[in-house]
Amino acid sequence: MAQAAPIPRDATVAVIGAGAMGRGIAQVAAMAGHPVRLFDTRLNAAEKARGAIAEALMAQAAKGRIDAAACETAVSRITPVHALGDCVSARLVIEAIVEDLAEKRALLRELEKIVGASTILATNTSSLSITALAAGLRFPGRVVGMHFFNPVPLMQLVEVVSGLATDDAVAECVAAIATAWGKAAVRATSTPGFIVNRCARPFYGEALRLLAERAADVPTIDALLREAGGFRMGAFELMDLIGNDVNFAVTRTVWEACYHDPRYAPSVIQEERVRAGHLGRKSGRGFYDYAEGSARPAAATLAVQPAPKRVVACGELGIAEPLLRRFDQAGIAIERAPAHDAFPDGAIAIGDGMLALSDGRTATARAAATGAKRLVLFDLALDYARTPRLGVARADSCGVSTQDAVAGALHAAGVAATPLDDVAGLVVLRTVAALANEAADAVTQGIASARDIDTAMQKGVNYPRGPLAWADEIGVSRVRDVLANLSAHYGEDRYRLSPLIARRHAVGAPLADDRAST
Ligand code: NAI
Repeated sequence: MAQAAPIPRDATVAVIGAGAMGRGIAQVAAMAGHPVRLFDTRLNAAEKARGAIAEALMAQAAKGRIDAAACETAVSRITPVHALGDCVSARLVIEAIVEDLAEKRALLRELEKIVGASTILATNTSSLSITALAAGLRFPGRVVGMHFFNPVPLMQLVEVVSGLATDDAVAECVAAIATAWGKAAVRATSTPGFIVNRCARPFYGEALRLLAERAADVPTIDALLREAGGFRMGAFELMDLIGNDVNFAVTRTVWEACYHDPRYAPSVIQEERVRAGHLGRKSGRGFYDYAEGSARPAAATLAVQPAPKRVVACGELGIAEPLLRRFDQAGIAIERAPAHDAFPDGAIAIGDGMLALSDGRTATARAAATGAKRLVLFDLALDYARTPRLGVARADSCGVSTQDAVAGALHAAGVAATPLDDVAGLVVLRTVAALANEAADAVTQGIASARDIDTAMQKGVNYPRGPLAWADEIGVSRVRDVLANLSAHYGEDRYRLSPLIARRHAVGAPLADDRAST
């Protein structure tokens, strides 16, 4: 039985594998006060890693970010060792060797012969099943995932992952130690991609589908995600940074592990990039060109038009209400009228047409269904009071005069109106709805709590909101409508509604609240 009592700061931690991740883990453990044994099969790799840690810490100390004496003490706690047997005294072993099931299983079997029965065996695997890694060991209950993010000293998140056999107390103990090391620990059950790599799939997947449908070009989709959505990077910029080969492989692994669930289907567009060697920043070309001197293409923006003198707000605009305030501040008169029959959830009469927030239908389909032929739809923004950009799409039945009036009003309000083809759910709204759907399914399936998923997506991939809290902000009923309309529009299982969203919508309860009934 593994010991699950709290691991004191003077307990030895062994780190196996002194590559990018092992080095970072050793640094964090040593800074927290633990004596660290660092082992790698590559000659001198552990010594070099210790040297690199010393250099990195001293650079931080030189900038005054940390105390130089504390750095020296931390480095002195790290002992490179040349045999696994030298890890015998460890209370916690964290392996960060090559991502290979057979290699990791062999290592864990070897470790079991060396360390005491109470030692916890943690793995930093990012894709392998914790259950599979633990299978066949004498004490599989002590094997747990401790998934750090790169670079370890900077990234706050640690996913603590339980396989079928993992003792709950072991997972709790590892979560406690990660917290003591200054990390945000979230708990998950072993599933393809764990929390972050699974729940983030729609961020890339929707962008790739939007590109495939030619809803907009790469810089325009990225600009909307970044400037309107508040994501740190656009999906294509991020895929280029991660590497299209790596990102494609992760998508493919999750898709295959989930028996080809269309939710996770990889994109031919991305695969073609990989085939062409357009891997991203590392190869000098991906979705963007990184050759020296090459300019970043600009996002599409509608030309400046005269602002309309007045608009009529029909009903309540809900989350988009701040847009009206910006129109007002820009000198556009706002009149109020009861909700329009065709737009019970609010719309703005503008120029000779109507402007409304997307509900997941195309503008053309919605214009046909409502009879409002001159219809322009707008996209989601993280904060309508501040967004510098907003996506818009006009129905096929809508002439340019309505779009010109929309562009004029938005421009006067300081918003770059970004033209999109008439795509269902536009860019940011459908991305956030798909992220929330995925997160809701992860809650439904008991992979993690709503709170941990929201924390993981904010700390692990820097999302501006947790997807579930964001869906609550938008309104569960709108998110449900967007998904239902996307599902009807594409006729694909990809947009099937998570049971959690259906249930919370039915009772009017929030998604981000773990105490709400499921
Ligand atoms: P890396 O290739 O930089 O380092 C792996 C190290 O393990 C190498 O120094 C290698 O010599 C050593 N090694 C290989 N087999 C060994 C064995 N049997 N015993 C001892 N040492 C051995 O790899 P990296 O990027 O540090 O990844 C390590 C683990 O962390 C993998 O499981 C990976 O999936 C996971 N991970 C990686 C992330 C990343 O962004 N690089 C993020 C999160 C997890």
